[in-house]
Amino acid sequence: MCGIIGYVGDADETLSVLLDGLSNLEYRGYDSAGIAVGGDGLRVEKRAGELDALQTALDGETGDAIDGPVGVAHTRWSTHGPPTDENAHPHTDETGRVAVVHNGIIENYRELRDELEAEGVAFTSETDTEVVPHLVARELRAGRAPEAAVRTATERLAGSYALAVVVAGTDALFAVRHDSPLVLGVGEGESFVASDVPAFLERTRDVIYLDDDEFVRLDATGWTVTDADGDVVDKDVRTVEWEAEQTGKSGYDHYMLKEIHEQPVSLRQCISGRVDELDGRVTVEELDDLGSPETVQFVACGTSYHAALYGAQLLRAAGVSANAYYAHEYATAPAPLSGDDLVVGITQSGETADTLSALREASGRGAETLALTNVVGSTAARESDHVLYIRAGPEIGVAATKTFSSQLVGLNLLTAYLTDGGTERRLVDELRGVASDVQAVLDESTAADVVETFVDADAFFFLGRGFDYPVALEGALKFKEITYEHAEGFAAGELKHGPLALVTADTPVFAVVTGEGEAARKTIGNVKEVEARDAPVVVVTDGVADAGRYADYVLDVPTTDERLAPLLANVQLQLVAYHMAARLGRSIDKPRNLAKSVTVE
Ligand code: M6R
Repeated sequence: MCGIIGYVGDADETLSVLLDGLSNLEYRGYDSAGIAVGGDGLRVEKRAGELDALQTALDGETGDAIDGPVGVAHTRWSTHGPPTDENAHPHTDETGRVAVVHNGIIENYRELRDELEAEGVAFTSETDTEVVPHLVARELRAGRAPEAAVRTATERLAGSYALAVVVAGTDALFAVRHDSPLVLGVGEGESFVASDVPAFLERTRDVIYLDDDEFVRLDATGWTVTDADGDVVDKDVRTVEWEAEQTGKSGYDHYMLKEIHEQPVSLRQCISGRVDELDGRVTVEELDDLGSPETVQFVACGTSYHAALYGAQLLRAAGVSANAYYAHEYATAPAPLSGDDLVVGITQSGETADTLSALREASGRGAETLALTNVVGSTAARESDHVLYIRAGPEIGVAATKTFSSQLVGLNLLTAYLTDGGTERRLVDELRGVASDVQAVLDESTAADVVETFVDADAFFFLGRGFDYPVALEGALKFKEITYEHAEGFAAGELKHGPLALVTADTPVFAVVTGEGEAARKTIGNVKEVEARDAPVVVVTDGVADAGRYADYVLDVPTTDERLAPLLANVQLQLVAYHMAARLGRSIDKPRNLAKSVTVE
């Protein structure tokens, strides 16, 4: 996810504060970086790649000359346009008077860009962000003061944004947030805005957490926070107590836990601008020229393969022929393909060698390919005919969490698109609510207490049926990956065909039972079978089928569309795995023998 830092204070220190801030934000992941320092004029430097590239540019050209009492800086995680110097932030208006850094997605950027281009404005990047400096510049030309210009420009924006803006000739910084994080740091004679506290923690521990639609002005006299109407808001200044090594994790003990808790935000980002609440439509620009494939084949590995199983079920349920294949098995036993088929590689990194190889195989055999990935400009994205980005933001923990839930949402968008032109009122409504449903699970989960009773168990089983089946597999994978305990996931119906022989009083069984009807009823039958063998049973359920009454423990999820309920159940299982691994003292973010990105076959 992009990282922002803004500073107002000592002109001699602005550049070093910004560069330190960027380096403290590196943990968020980024593919380009830049700074703008303002005062009488405005100096901007930005580069694709790591911070070293920016530092070299500054050293080689303008480093010594860059000083001024106000500045903004940015680490970019690409969403609109690949990582290039031009697409890096800050973005400026045509005169170079206004510089903007942004975290989030401007949903209506296309319409704003068309409007500005029709007025003769020339754009220099492919980003959604660039509309903002041009809008601010237009307001300045209309005679507004800088603060009013930024406010008025922001009123035009739809989507999610944390913005920090500097205007040449103004020793002030303006910032605003809407559905993207932004904190204010209060120092001695200096103040900061940032996406996250670590950006400025070396200089101050006093912070103000900003709420949605609050507007900040920082200048030499200090800071002012106002609401959308311009009225001053009283804010509490809090002192952050985190230890230095926790800072990149925003106070969480592990990146994995932080990323689990980021899911409400990452899911909002995934659907941002893609579902229309007014007409109940799914619109995904990237898929506009996809056509209507005869058959869809998914290829993927690990967690992404579980998403593939889910995607294939979604499409089949909607009447499209679809199958999921392990990418590493795909070339060995190739499925029949015709030119009307679509092969979808699901890969959060976009760099998994097995998945790339399967996509190349499919392409070589004449199929159209689509990459469902998290990483803009990744190999899968570059080599495929189409790309659908899941916009989960960087995931640092080796165990995939937020990327899996965004993959599931991405697959719902793809299915809606392929099957009914994207119109499905109920799905759109529930997709819009999925982030708050996940938040409810995070707020109320008792997973930590449940696992406490199982620390001496021999093995752990996860079962589910239908849409719950891929989640049972994923629950077991997550569990074994980070706890190092034996865990097995299987389709509930397979129980009697083998796994039941392993079930004892020392093998807790996690049963995922969502929705109503035949599948839930049958899984409840399987729950009774394991219970009869004295296995402790944890049911993860939305309560619709009343499965909880047969369980020793219940992990609840909110009721939603049957296609989205497994996503919520999976959040409970992420927490189960995490808390057990924490209880056992495992290396959660870097489990033994595993790598985040598997780039060899
Ligand atoms: O980057 P990818 O999605 O292609 O990675 C595929 C698997 O290596 C990955 O999902 C792996 O299984 C996860 N680390 C599991 O948590």
